[in-house]
Amino acid sequence: MRIAMIGSGYVGLVSGACLADFGHEVVCVDKDEAKIAALNAGQSPIYEPGLSELVAANQRAGRLFFTTDIREGMRGAQAAFICVGTPTLPGEGGADMRYVYQAAGEIGDAIETFVVVVNKSTSPIGACDAIESIVAERAPRDKFAVASNPEFLREGAAIDDFKQPDRVVIGVEGEAARRVMREIYQPLERNGSPIVYTTRRTAELIKYAANVFLAMKVTFINEIADLCERVGGDVMDVAHAIGLDKRIGRRFLNPGPGFGGSCFPKDTLALTKLAIDARSPMRLVETLVDVNDKRKVAMVGKIVRACGGSVKGKRIAVLGLTYKPNTDDMRDAPSLVILPLLQQAGATIVAFDPEGAAQAAKLLPGVEFASGPYACLEGADALVVVTEWDAFRALDLARVKAALREPVVVDLRNIYPQSVMREMGFKYVGIGRGA
Ligand code: UGA
Repeated sequence: MRIAMIGSGYVGLVSGACLADFGHEVVCVDKDEAKIAALNAGQSPIYEPGLSELVAANQRAGRLFFTTDIREGMRGAQAAFICVGTPTLPGEGGADMRYVYQAAGEIGDAIETFVVVVNKSTSPIGACDAIESIVAERAPRDKFAVASNPEFLREGAAIDDFKQPDRVVIGVEGEAARRVMREIYQPLERNGSPIVYTTRRTAELIKYAANVFLAMKVTFINEIADLCERVGGDVMDVAHAIGLDKRIGRRFLNPGPGFGGSCFPKDTLALTKLAIDARSPMRLVETLVDVNDKRKVAMVGKIVRACGGSVKGKRIAVLGLTYKPNTDDMRDAPSLVILPLLQQAGATIVAFDPEGAAQAAKLLPGVEFASGPYACLEGADALVVVTEWDAFRALDLARVKAALREPVVVDLRNIYPQSVMREMGFKYVGIGRGA
């Protein structure tokens, strides 16, 4: 089947490359000429493990194409996926739908033969209805149908998430659209991946419910971690033990400096707003963002206390800047809150991140960037781990201790064993390890 992906950002590119890898013929469309030129030259605009190789292999196989021309992309396509951004509207908290609706209009103008317009962008409930109206102003009703197909890709693991999904959610009304969607996802259905067919509105809600539930899980364990520090408990044992309960599950119970990224913060705000608009406010969700924002600031107090009450004139080494490992994405990263506050308190920051340094350098003025983890630590008064890249887990701890001026380690992701660190003579502070 020929498929057009409208928007070649994170979601469009990963989904497009994976669909091509399943054997479909995919054209990724984007307005950004530089991005399309780079992709045509075999360069991926984002860092995602395995993506460059997947793109190159499918380009070579003649199944994956890139263009700035939506008409060319749509020609012969039976499905057109909308994969554009829905950022937070400033001051409102709701999702800015302008790019989705613009894409819908352009798709409508380009329709020649029957096409299913599939919205993959995370959108408020009712977005598919709005897309349908927009397309209907430009193309005859019998030439298109609209479906919702939310994405559940985690950055850093997006290809695996696409190819071995916990489930695929398809919101579709009408047999023709359902047939096309089934054909697109047949390779996954054959592999036994659950495919959930539902209404478009329900599909739209599932996406928000999934992300916000996960954000709530993270926030819950973070608050348990704080409590552990006060009452003398170990959050890692709590997470392990409650996680063994199959009704709870261990995943997304890792305490840290607060969730970040392009999805959890935005989707939590958007669900709050749409629930208020629907006169069904969600009190639990309303407090999530506030609790999470305050947490990032509270991490600074933790670091200052570990440094003896002041960081003035101190050199702090920071390992990991991206909002999570295996990405170069800095959106809403805790480091963007923590580092400037440490600088304001008089610290000099030297940082290392395996992939995020180029993005981070634009957002963190005054931060020195080191060429590697040991170089970062040299002569520092404290080490702070902000993001849990695997490369930091197996550092030679004796070398770490020798490189630091003071053996202070603030581990905001609990990647080092507390007992070992203390035996080695580190002043070690983790998260929620009051025991
Ligand atoms: C998230 C969802 O996991 C995906 O399923 C979804 O498709 C995606 O949003 C989206 O809507 O596009 P992502 O933002 O890439 O994916 O990252 P996650 O792995 O979910 O992590 C989000 C944040 O939570 C990160 O800052 C991470 O450090 C934090 N986190 C996660 C924790 O602090 N503890 C955990 O146990 C898990």
